[in-house]
This record gives sequence, C-alpha cells and structure tokens, in this order.
Amino acid sequence: MNMNYIFNYHLTKFYRFNGLFLLLIISIASCTSKSESVQGLMADSAMVVSAHPLASDVGIHILKKGGNAIDAAIATQFALAVVYPVAGNLGGGGFMLVRMQDGSAQALDYREKAPAAATTNMYVGETGEVIENLSRYGHLAAGVPGTVAGLVAAHEKYGSLPWADLVQPSIDLASNGFTLTKKEAEGLNELQAELQQYNTIMPENMIKTKWNEGDTIYYKDLAQTLIRIRDNKREGFYKGETAQLITEEMQRGKGLITAEDLSNYQATWRNPIKTTYRDHTIISMPPPSSGGIALFQLLHATENFSVKQLGWNTQATAHIMIEAERRAYADRAYYLGDPDFVSVPVEQLIDKKYMTERMKSFNPSKASLSSAIQHGNLTMKESEQTTHLSIVDAQGNAVAVTTTLNGGYGSAVVVAGAGFLLNNEMDDFSAKPGTPNMYGAVGGEANKIEPNKRMLSSMTPTIVEKDGKLKLVVGTPGGTTIITSVYQTILNVIDHEMGMQAAVNAKRFHSQWAPDVVFVEEKALKEKDSLALAKMGHTFKARGPIGRVDAILILPNGKLEGGADLRGDDAARGY
Ligand code: GLY
Repeated sequence: MNMNYIFNYHLTKFYRFNGLFLLLIISIASCTSKSESVQGLMADSAMVVSAHPLASDVGIHILKKGGNAIDAAIATQFALAVVYPVAGNLGGGGFMLVRMQDGSAQALDYREKAPAAATTNMYVGETGEVIENLSRYGHLAAGVPGTVAGLVAAHEKYGSLPWADLVQPSIDLASNGFTLTKKEAEGLNELQAELQQYNTIMPENMIKTKWNEGDTIYYKDLAQTLIRIRDNKREGFYKGETAQLITEEMQRGKGLITAEDLSNYQATWRNPIKTTYRDHTIISMPPPSSGGIALFQLLHATENFSVKQLGWNTQATAHIMIEAERRAYADRAYYLGDPDFVSVPVEQLIDKKYMTERMKSFNPSKASLSSAIQHGNLTMKESEQTTHLSIVDAQGNAVAVTTTLNGGYGSAVVVAGAGFLLNNEMDDFSAKPGTPNMYGAVGGEANKIEPNKRMLSSMTPTIVEKDGKLKLVVGTPGGTTIITSVYQTILNVIDHEMGMQAAVNAKRFHSQWAPDVVFVEEKALKEKDSLALAKMGHTFKARGPIGRVDAILILPNGKLEGGADLRGDDAARGY
C-alpha cells in the first residue's frame, strides 16, 4: 500500500457496553503526554523546520547565504522534491503563506487543477459506482501540477537571491545521491508494486528488491529536469522538454494532461483570511483550501469556553473540541470548493457569531449525532501524505508552506525521462456529487470535478501574531486531519502554554463529522476521560500517528523555538 486512505485500525478493539461502543485502547497508559517538558531547537535569529534533515540543511544554507525566508522556502521545497518524494514534489501543488516583517501577508495558491478534458463523472462506472482506483493511481489520477509555477511566482514577488542559487542544491542532491532514512527506505519498499503496476516505462533507479536505511539513491533524470527549471524557470517545466516528457507520459498511460493544460497553468495570489483568538491574530489560507475557514470555525467555537481551566484533553475540553469539529466539518463538506468556480460564503462562515449560533445546540453532557448536524455527504478519503515547512528569517519574515502529491508518492507514475512523480490530486474532488446520503442530504456539488477547476484541500499553513508581532508559524500534512492538528497545536501554545516542541509532541485526536468517530493517538486522552466521553455518546477508534507538525514559536525574548515532529524524520535547523 502506498496510500493511507484507510485509517490504521489494527490497534483498536471495541466492546459493547450499555448500548454504547466504548473504546478499549489496549496499551493506553494512565497518563497522557501533555506534561512533557521538552524543548525544541533554540535559535537567536532564523530557523527552518521541514520533513527531512537534508531539506532543512538546504533551507538554512540559503538563509546563511543572505536569502530571505521566501528564498529558503523555495530551496527547501525543491530539496524535498528530491529527498522526500513521498510528498515533496515537482509534480504536485501547494499553498504558501507569507508574512513579511512589516506585517503584510499574502497567500499563494499553486494547487493542481483538473485537466481541461476532465469531466464530472470521469470516475463513475456504467452502473453508477465510483471506480476509486482511477482517481488514486495511474495517469488519470493526476491534476495539472502547480508547484514550479508557484515557486517561480513566489520568487518573482519576494525572492532576493538569484533563482539558480535556490535550485542548485537540489540538483546536487539528485545527481550526487544521498542516503535514505529508515522511513524513506520503507516507503520506497512499499511503493515497489505500484511502480511496477502503474508505470509505462520503469523508473529503474527507484526499483530495487529491498531498500535499506543508509542506501544511496540517485535521481539523474530528476537532476536534468531541475537543471531545465534552474535555467528556464517556469518554461523549464511547462514548456519544452519537460512538458513534452509529461505529455508523452500521458499519451502512453491514457492520461488527460495536455501541452495546453501545462502552458495555461497559473499560480494565483490570494488574500489570506484573518481572525482573532484570545488576543492573537490568526492568518491562514483561503479557499480552495478548506483549512483556514474550518480552523477559524473551530477556534471561534472554542473561544467561548475556558479550555485552559478545563485542562488539556480532559473530558470537558475534548467534548467541546469534538462538537466544534462535528459542526465545522459538516459545513466544509457542503459549502467549500474552488472559489473561481463556486461561491463560497467565506465571510459568513468565519464570522464569530456564526459559530456561536452553531454551538447553541451544544450539550455539555451529551454527544450530538453527526446525523443530526446538517449538511454534506462527503466521507473522509483525503490522503495524509502531504508535507509542511515553516521558516523564519533574521529580518522576521515568515513563510508557511504546505505541499502535496496527495497520496504517498502520488499516483505512483514517474514521468519517464523527467524523474518525478505525478500527483493523484484528482482524488480530492468529490467523485460523485449530488448523491443523497442516508439522511437525504446532498453534498459535494461545490467540489465536483469541472475542467480547469482546483480540487478542495485541507492544507492549513497558518501564522499567528500577538500584539502585531510574529508569534507562531505552523502547519502539517494529514489530509482532513491537518485542520484539527493545526487547531490542537494552536490551543497547546495559546491556551495550555506549552513550548513549541511540547506542543508538537503532544498526542492528538481527530474527528470530522463523518464518519461519526473520534480517532485518537495512543495517550491522547486519559483512560478515564475516554471512557467518560464514550458514555456521553462519543465513539473512539485508536490509530497511529496523526499529522507531522513542523512549527516555529517566537518567544517573548525574541528567540525562536523549533517544533520538528518526532512522528517523522522532521528536523529543525537554526542560528
Ligand atoms: N491532498 C491533501 C489536501 O490537499 O488536503
């Protein structure tokens, strides 16, 4: 399996008690992990936190060379495309949130788009059933990539070092080779069957009976693609040899992306959305991300309760959070889509009064049923293999980037001769909108497939200010769990006064209206609290790690603390 669409249930056992499903998390300990007194990397001036140590090395090298946070973000993302192909990418897309030292903020949308030949029912079979594999693997799963257009646009607006300086470190990594971490070796081993199944020409450099930690891997074709991007910027990807290799790949594999799709692709600058939460200003991504809106709804719902006094992940706090999540995700399923195609009521959804109204049905002693909460019929199927990087430079500019191929290693299709994986982002569309759910609600229209449309995302790159000053840069991979992981990290810092690494380490839970279940990491809740919550009507399922938050906290003394998620190989670098 190279994609993690289905949660890992193998740690979970259920038993029925008093008509309720109560959770038995076999290995739950009597204490949770909130109280860890850990400290992340501390730095005086500047910091990069990303999913891979070599990518963080590249980012900090660019900062030390005099580049700004945007330069470092560009170079780090190119490096992730080489050393972290499970999610780092040239063949995917992403969102970049920038907050400059003067307080101005911009959001860059380089989300993939549906090819012009895409149709609403392209994944629906003759008998009306969704053929899921078509949107998840192989050539038809790929949207038009946005990453290179996005990074060029970011450089044109904010870059300070020459473009070539930002691409060169990745060319060196790809051509000189680098050693695999244990996790990356395991990922490549899991990918082998899909590489064989979905590629028309085998990417021989990635195919091996068994990859081991410490093996050296080379990406020679990818190095050539990066050289074309270094020398020709946008044209090095969307025109000429790279574009030709992509379209030839599409023709061999019966995909839809054409030369016109590639040359027409444009990244888009958007106004970030802003709100306040307990004397902090929160800046996040607007649609086509659902992340910013849903995050704000969760914070607005929480602001009416003193979760600090109620305590970290106690019965009372978790109940408030889960009920807020139920309502925010019901709205997400119904209202959100590409704002260039559908009218999204952003201002209403992020008006504080709206969530206060939504929480009027909140019962402090009883779980509500998702079936009683209106809107939508989307089920959770967003992949969790995305990646996030957070950067602050010595001038105080900050960048939060979340980027993705969607599934781990995307569609598993490597563009022959160009050496990079294509995304399977088409799976983030609603494959069969308009089908009433079991309660008769119709959802997913806003996110139906249409030619040239961007698919809805959960990516939530977020920046927090206090008293007009930069305080926190945060984001994570995790599909729909992105929003709740960012939410919990913000509560951990603002309400529960944790340091950055402790806030990142703290165990997480996630719920999202449908399915009507709360997923929990081991030790996210004390056993007594989870049992009490189950008696109130909440259903729990244990699962493996939720998210990989990479974040930076600016302390009152001006120093920076990194939070690099221990759930992955993530690494902070600073000076
Ligand atoms: N592909 C995951 C997301 O965009 O949310």
